[in-house]
Amino acid sequence: MAQKKSKKAKAAGKKSGAKKPARKVVKLAARKGAAKSHGKSNGLPKVSGKAYGKDGKALSGVRILDFTHVQSGPTCTQLLAWFGADVIKVERPGIGDITRGQLVDVKGADSLYFTMLNHNKRSITIDSKHPQGKRVLDELIKSCDVLVENFAPGALDRMGLTWDHIHKLNPRMIVASIKGFGPGPYEDCKVYENVAQCTGGSASTTGFRDGPPLVTGAQIGDSGTGLHLALGIVTALFQRTRTGRGQKVNVAMQDGVLNLCRVKLRDQQRLKAGPLKEYSQFGQNIPFGDATPRAGNDSGGGQPGWILKCKGWESDPNAYIYFITQAPVWGPICDIIGEPTWKTDPEYATPPARLPKLMAIFARIEEWTKTKTKFEVMEICNAQDIPVGPILSMREISEDESLRKTGTVVEVDHPTRGKYLSVGNPIKLSDSISEVKRSPLLGEHTDEILKDVLGLKANVIAEIKNSGALSAPKKEEKAA
Ligand code: COA
Repeated sequence: MAQKKSKKAKAAGKKSGAKKPARKVVKLAARKGAAKSHGKSNGLPKVSGKAYGKDGKALSGVRILDFTHVQSGPTCTQLLAWFGADVIKVERPGIGDITRGQLVDVKGADSLYFTMLNHNKRSITIDSKHPQGKRVLDELIKSCDVLVENFAPGALDRMGLTWDHIHKLNPRMIVASIKGFGPGPYEDCKVYENVAQCTGGSASTTGFRDGPPLVTGAQIGDSGTGLHLALGIVTALFQRTRTGRGQKVNVAMQDGVLNLCRVKLRDQQRLKAGPLKEYSQFGQNIPFGDATPRAGNDSGGGQPGWILKCKGWESDPNAYIYFITQAPVWGPICDIIGEPTWKTDPEYATPPARLPKLMAIFARIEEWTKTKTKFEVMEICNAQDIPVGPILSMREISEDESLRKTGTVVEVDHPTRGKYLSVGNPIKLSDSISEVKRSPLLGEHTDEILKDVLGLKANVIAEIKNSGALSAPKKEEKAA
């Protein structure tokens, strides 16, 4: 590694030592009267003098009425909460977000499914179909900036919370929704993660050519759509600073998945120009059909890659590494695997010559990777700038020191379940540092929100409570 760096340095020195005519440097004098690029210009406030991370959070002052449940919507509002928004999660009395009780691992405690998707939020229970509950919601609409929901199509309207109703109460309100599909034949369908993966083009392009379509472990339908929605919301908040008014933000899960499968639609169109040469089926002389095929572990870009076995693969299901034969490092790859003649042999020396025999080349590389652990391969290859990726298990990720240090993996304490691991905010802002706070218990902040956000007096709160709008119907009422 050190030797390689010094080679690079020498090359750089050579370049700078060459005698070239001096270039003229143009001075960038500002035109008279032109706006300064800092300070109070462009309507921005004065540059803060406070230390970075000490001047509030990016979304401080933004209040979100969070009607989300399960995974897609909660992913979105959790991100906004990490950026400092006050997220008020409205839950159905007695039940709450259905995930509180799904995949339970600690009896009597909120599930990891719920706790890992609802950090930094406050919870209020309101029966949105109770007349008094509707009144409380109307007041909350007046005091929030964004309403986020991912109910089944039509459910928000059935609660009486139509766009017209909301906008009349608060014309500044941004109403953000996730649905399975956009307008069209499927717009009324309920949708979960894997339905979106299948209808958004992911499943048909994932897996091996000779096997069935596959869904991925990454929750691109739910969490991916939540991410898209979060961007839509902050964009609408930004536009509101100019227009003063709210707008609807809609993301369909099918669209979110397709956006992430953009390169596969690229390949669909490239098919017209002939076979997709970077797909290994090209090298295997297997004809292409009329749709983008499943590519197994082929690399998505123009640099061929594959997953190879490493030492211990016989007993460890994750003793594998992703190996990319990037063209500029072909020489070092040949040296490492003990095939130095492949550097100059015309059968191997160029990317087009290698394409038809990629699988055989990867088989030869695998002979070498099988003699090393995935971490040894990583170390040896990275020293030569060869891109490789060890297949990390969730156990390895959960124990990774560097991920803990950056706050991407965090340990959180919870009053009923104790300590658990979670994924912190993967988006790092230098002036808006995220602290991960535990998820709220069901209705934990009901009184606090009614008092502090709506400014209601104790007797009014008691009256609302007595009306039954904030609690689950009693057993005999349910039975009636
Ligand atoms: N008080 C009273 N009723 C409430 C309530 C509250 N606080 N919160 C929810 N409800 C009611 C709704 O009004 C709805 O009643 P309705 O059907 O009589 O109008 C009911 O609870 C169920 O809501 P729904 O969204 O239909 O839940 P579901 O469990 O049947 O369906 C999904 C779940 C996820 C399939 C569906 O919400 C959906 O398709 N969402 C959009 C796509 C999406 O986000 N999917 C991914 C989820 S990770």
